[in-house]
Amino acid sequence: MLQTTETPVKLEHAGINENTRHMLEKLKIVTVIGSGTMGNGISHVFAQSGFSVHMMDVKQAALDKAVATIGKNMDRQVSKNTLTEEAKQTALGRIVTYTDMAEAVKDADLVIEAATENIDLKIKIFQELDKACPEHTILATNTSSISITRIGSYTKRPGKVIGMHFMNPVPVMKLVEIINGYATDATVTQLVYDLSKYLGKVPCVVNDYPGFISNRILMPLINEAILALQEGVAGVEEIDTIMKLGMAHPMGPLQLADFIGLDTCYSIMNVLHMGFGNQKYAPATLLANMVQAGFYGAKSGEGFYTYTPGSKDLVVASRFQNKTWKM
Ligand SMILES: NC(=O)c1ccc[n+]([C@@H]2O[C@H](COP(=O)([O-])OP(=O)(O)OC[C@H]3O[C@@H](n4cnc5c(N)ncnc54)[C@H](O)[C@@H]3O)[C@@H](O)[C@H]2O)c1
Repeated sequence: MLQTTETPVKLEHAGINENTRHMLEKLKIVTVIGSGTMGNGISHVFAQSGFSVHMMDVKQAALDKAVATIGKNMDRQVSKNTLTEEAKQTALGRIVTYTDMAEAVKDADLVIEAATENIDLKIKIFQELDKACPEHTILATNTSSISITRIGSYTKRPGKVIGMHFMNPVPVMKLVEIINGYATDATVTQLVYDLSKYLGKVPCVVNDYPGFISNRILMPLINEAILALQEGVAGVEEIDTIMKLGMAHPMGPLQLADFIGLDTCYSIMNVLHMGFGNQKYAPATLLANMVQAGFYGAKSGEGFYTYTPGSKDLVVASRFQNKTWKM
């Protein structure tokens, strides 16, 4: 592994706030907790931007898969001439994998937690991080919906706990939704804002309410599409086609749900439902059933569509293939 000894942030980099520049210069080691869909993308972007990345997961198989995915995604960048082969090798060399959290975070300047969307799990992880990380370490979470204030309250450093919500796929999507917990220090928000710009992203700062902005708006849309399917208003293909061609969405809501992960969608709906106490956010029964039966979408091989490794064809899952207008 190439341990980056030089400062990754270039002083002349445009658009970086003067006051946080010196803090950014000290930021060298970034630990990413969880190496699933989001963790591998976040590690990819940080490694490509010059940071030493410690990628940690409880499952060695998830780490191996993440390293392979990052390599494959960088190969695609090389074939499109957006990355040189040499830069790819250097970036891959900056990533080290760990299954031991204490080891992975002992020198971290910034931790980004991207483990499974589950409140109890996140609280446990943040309690462990708070104990194992140096005092100066900023603890960010990529959570899609869970309260940053609540997560921070389980640590002795709530001022250094913040939401840094990347979008999927991380190397491609420009947005970082930054979520201020009630106790987050303004200097930490500014630092994460400038860091996001340094990564080539567009940061937007929001306050800590259930689902923030992105999922408060997106998830009820997805849930409504699932309710429409459940009620037999239209089939999978019709619902997605109407939203793609009628509303110019790049992907239909059911395909997007598969892509995000139905387990993640279900968790977010539950957070909205509990957080606002409003029945309009109740997750669709069909979504609950699919998650309970282990149909998580693309990552499990079947959701509203079926996914065959190596194939890009979009095939509606057999159980949803009956056209409702023929029923
Ligand atoms: N999937 C999306 O489109 C998306 C988008 C934005 C944000 N998010 C958020 O990102 C986070 C991760 O989502 P994902 O889609 O990558 O999930 P995922 O299921 O693909 O990956 C989660 C990973 O966390 C690991 N993990 C579980 N417990 C752990 C622990 N104690 N320590 C370390 N690793 C642990 C799992 O082994 C798994 O590899 C969630 O909070 C989710 O809400 C997801």
